Amino acid sequence: AEDGYRAWLRYDKIDNAEVLKSYQAQFNHVLIKGDSPTLKAAQEELEIGLKGLMGTEFDFTAGSVQGGTLLIGTIKELSDFSELNLKTLLSDSGPEGYIIQRRELDGKEITLIAANTDIGVLYGVYHLLRMMQTHQYLDGVSVSSSPKIENRILNHWDNLNRLVERGYAGLSLWDWGRLPEYKDPRYTDYARLNASMGINGTVLNNVNADPRILNEDFLEKVEVLADIFRPYGIKVYLSVNFQSPIEVGGLETADPLAPEVQEWWNEKAADIYERIPDFGGFLVKADSEGQPGPFQYNRTHAEGANMLADAVAPQDGLLIWRAFVYSPEQTDRFREAYDEFVPQDGKFRDNVLLQVKNGPIDFQPREPFSPLFGALPNTNTVLELQITQEYFGFANHLAYQGPLFTEALNHDTYAEGEGSTVGKIVASEVFDYEHTGIAGVVNLGTDRNWTGHPFIQSSWYAFGRLAWDYTLSSEDIAKEWLRMTFTNNPKFVEPITEVMQESREAGVNYRSPLGLTHLYAQGHHYGPAPWTSDLPRPDWTAVYYHKAAEDGIGFDRTETGSNAIGQYEAPLEEKFSDPETTPEEFLLWFHHLPWDYEMDSGRTLWGELVHKYYQGVETVRWMQEEWESIEGLIDEHRFEEVKALLEIQEKDAVIWRNSCVLYFQTHSNKPIPDQYEKPEHD
Ligand code: GCU
Repeated sequence: AEDGYRAWLRYDKIDNAEVLKSYQAQFNHVLIKGDSPTLKAAQEELEIGLKGLMGTEFDFTAGSVQGGTLLIGTIKELSDFSELNLKTLLSDSGPEGYIIQRRELDGKEITLIAANTDIGVLYGVYHLLRMMQTHQYLDGVSVSSSPKIENRILNHWDNLNRLVERGYAGLSLWDWGRLPEYKDPRYTDYARLNASMGINGTVLNNVNADPRILNEDFLEKVEVLADIFRPYGIKVYLSVNFQSPIEVGGLETADPLAPEVQEWWNEKAADIYERIPDFGGFLVKADSEGQPGPFQYNRTHAEGANMLADAVAPQDGLLIWRAFVYSPEQTDRFREAYDEFVPQDGKFRDNVLLQVKNGPIDFQPREPFSPLFGALPNTNTVLELQITQEYFGFANHLAYQGPLFTEALNHDTYAEGEGSTVGKIVASEVFDYEHTGIAGVVNLGTDRNWTGHPFIQSSWYAFGRLAWDYTLSSEDIAKEWLRMTFTNNPKFVEPITEVMQESREAGVNYRSPLGLTHLYAQGHHYGPAPWTSDLPRPDWTAVYYHKAAEDGIGFDRTETGSNAIGQYEAPLEEKFSDPETTPEEFLLWFHHLPWDYEMDSGRTLWGELVHKYYQGVETVRWMQEEWESIEGLIDEHRFEEVKALLEIQEKDAVIWRNSCVLYFQTHSNKPIPDQYEKPEHD
């Protein structure tokens, strides 16, 4: 049965005779120049890809160019063919870009994949295979592509005991107990899937970092993984615990300004680089949710980060410092990261990157952008997105994150006037950053299909594609993924693209519409508990976030409240300060409004809230109907699996809706409008 293991790198024979015929006429053998491990990986991928897609063995041994050659290589390896004019063609391709062209060489029709480097060639090969998997005609093809962001990194929240924080798809892929001896072939498939999108870095372990990762026995295992990933262009990074000099090194302090601490980190970094010459660097969660950091030594974020940055600098390593901080003393959690980090702008070393979650709170179904984007002209700023569905029903719900990712990237910060989107800031098109990066928190695990819900693969895919080119549309990515992962049949692709595109908004509506946020049961973050009020910290309760009372609902972040809105640039500050000009999807993020406040629809705020909650459930039911309509167009196993998971989702959505509507009703004291009184079982 189709179990989803191949994800989008399925190379089943093309079932469109016309497309197949056109490919057959275009190439019949492959000439790869060069034999580095990366080019070998490219050849292996082509061997399985072409054989699978076209159903015939390909000749990879031809020594010369003929009609129908698929010619592949770097600018250096192809230097014999001066007629190709590669120097000009590749002048904008950089170290990772490539070109694909159908053209003439010596009077013969060939297809060319060329790049400045081996990894560019591999990326080009994946691009060609993707075009074939999605049945695109290659006549006259002329592609030139290179990434807009330099470091495209997955973050695994994997513990060393193999439990994955917020993972939900089995155990950690990293089988520490059998490494370094046993090199699970799955590591190579992991690398292939990531390289196919251009992911070029992976942080192996949880940001809540176990210091033992820096022990020699673990580094020996990490080295093996780095060796396997290297041909695929993927650098390994490690999350480190700020107290490591004490926990692992036996020192008495981890004070970043103590010379012995700097010395310890320098030596540790040198040791890692000896094993892994292209080691990416360290990721640090410091002074956040109980993790240690520089504060206990009365040092700043910059002092803590710079010390570690200096340790990896001699080998061009990066130090990624997270900005996910909040404190019980702060009156509004929203404000905290900005208040802590903006005064530090300009104080970090060039090789420090500050990793900021898309929103000011924590990966909620919808958040406005974190005001740190745009406020740090002198600090390399990385965007952190969440692929794993911590707040979207774990691996049970269908909630394609593409629309959330593009929404996050397209928010306009106005930092340098209109058009200063988050995407442009992260790609260093607004300020002049030394390094650029984007990070995605993944849930990959030992489940056969990697992600638990088969559709979470699509969010992994969307992250990878947007990391390469943040201007892509979530809809185009959804279509591409569906075609590669299931079938090119438009009777399937069209309706299910729509299902994917609607799925995130459905999740917003049945959980926290109109700018409500964080109504989750504390701890597990699966089901609703908007009534939660009695916890040791107010910022862990739900009532802190929604502030529902007899007089209304929502968090006042204007000047009369926490004034978090003041952290945005003037045009946005103005827009968000007035409920009339605040987009309704963010209304209760910024305003506390009476229950009978009039909405655009003409309904009261209470009526609109109820309407959205019911709409969320109805959308899930519509998703179920659409899914059932495609029965027979894809394999039975995945059809049945998704169908069953949608049943869970529908039940959960009803629980969310009823819990929230009934709870808020105890404050609004208003009836549920007639049209929503449903006599049936829910
Ligand atoms: C969330 C999540 C934690 C995680 C934290 C982080 O709060 O629930 O599990 O450790 O984010 O990003 O550091």
